Amino acid sequence: MNLQELSAHIAGEFQKHYGRAPRWIVAAPGRVNVIGEHTDYNDGFVLPMAIERYAIMAADAAAAPGKISIYDAHFKENATIDVTAPVTKGSPKWSNYIRGVVAGFQRRGVTIPALDVAFMSTVPLGGGLSSSAALEVCTATLMEAATGKAIDPVEKALLAQQAEHEFAGVPCGIMDQFISALGREGHLLLLDCRTRKTELVPMSDPSVALLVINTNVKHELSGGEYAERRAQCEEAARNIGAKSLRDVSPEQLEKAKGKMTEVVYRRARHVIGEIERTVHAAEGIRASNWPGVGNLMYASHASLRDDYEVSCAELDAVVEIAEDIGYKGGVYGCRMTGGGFGGCCVALVKAAAVDGITKKIAADYKAKTGIEATLYSSRPAAGATIIQG
Ligand code: GLA
Repeated sequence: MNLQELSAHIAGEFQKHYGRAPRWIVAAPGRVNVIGEHTDYNDGFVLPMAIERYAIMAADAAAAPGKISIYDAHFKENATIDVTAPVTKGSPKWSNYIRGVVAGFQRRGVTIPALDVAFMSTVPLGGGLSSSAALEVCTATLMEAATGKAIDPVEKALLAQQAEHEFAGVPCGIMDQFISALGREGHLLLLDCRTRKTELVPMSDPSVALLVINTNVKHELSGGEYAERRAQCEEAARNIGAKSLRDVSPEQLEKAKGKMTEVVYRRARHVIGEIERTVHAAEGIRASNWPGVGNLMYASHASLRDDYEVSCAELDAVVEIAEDIGYKGGVYGCRMTGGGFGGCCVALVKAAAVDGITKKIAADYKAKTGIEATLYSSRPAAGATIIQG
């Protein structure tokens, strides 16, 4: 479903559930990160794009005061949030992404209106495409629409990130919420996570496409591995005497190697190399140097697999299949994307070869792992929008 169809669909769901038409419709996209993995919480660079997959909400002011009623139109579940007191964690689990954002608005002194909401998402859950950030940013956009007060998009991303930290328990960086709030159609976003300055990188060459390959192995970032990686990076920076790994050159790391464990050293080596690769990839995309960008993607994957150890057998299988198809078969590069331990890969491919590559990866992946992958290509989409209201 494209955004227009999705919007009509959620309006229909709202109508069926609440017996009237919605006043507001808002949406926020998921994302795929082309390169720059596990660099955001190290003050580094990331290069994501918003995808044509969305969390979407239809809403209206509620007759009953003091609460937000939410109807999950896909799973047919309901949640109620009492907004007369500071919002806290609650159930069902998915409502915490919404609760966290509402709490963030309350903390900023916003009086939360009573609302009836219907929502759904076409971002696969736990697939490494930021389904949670999409839901958070979508909620923040609904708050803007319903209160009539827009907030600065950077502030909005930070509010959503805080919701993820406090209500979902994942100490994530800023990338996912940022791209969901600030994505631009036809562009990747080169984000400097230290200064929060962004540069739009046009991705409009019709001869190439980005293919997302979902391994359909779920990832669960709150499992502790993510927080552990983050702590290891901080430890490395501390041992080197730097504020963050952003400030450390490969030479400095080598010199300080004896001051840290071998594991912490490898974590730092990934981050420092990945920050450099991300800047080069942005240059490569600007110059339409697709083989160069592809090689950086392969190098990123190897580093995430061997040094950062956040890949898994299924993600590695996809990258191996892509490498086998190779340049001659139309694949420039491929890597895991997102937090890791499952989820998706992203491949840079020749547009003319997309269909053949899709079939080949799906068949070979099934043969290797016994699992059906889901593949789709997406143009870079726009960030969060108020569609109606
Ligand atoms: C998750 C986090 C992001 C980022 C990536 C890894 O998606 O939410 O902030 O750290 O992992 O690059």
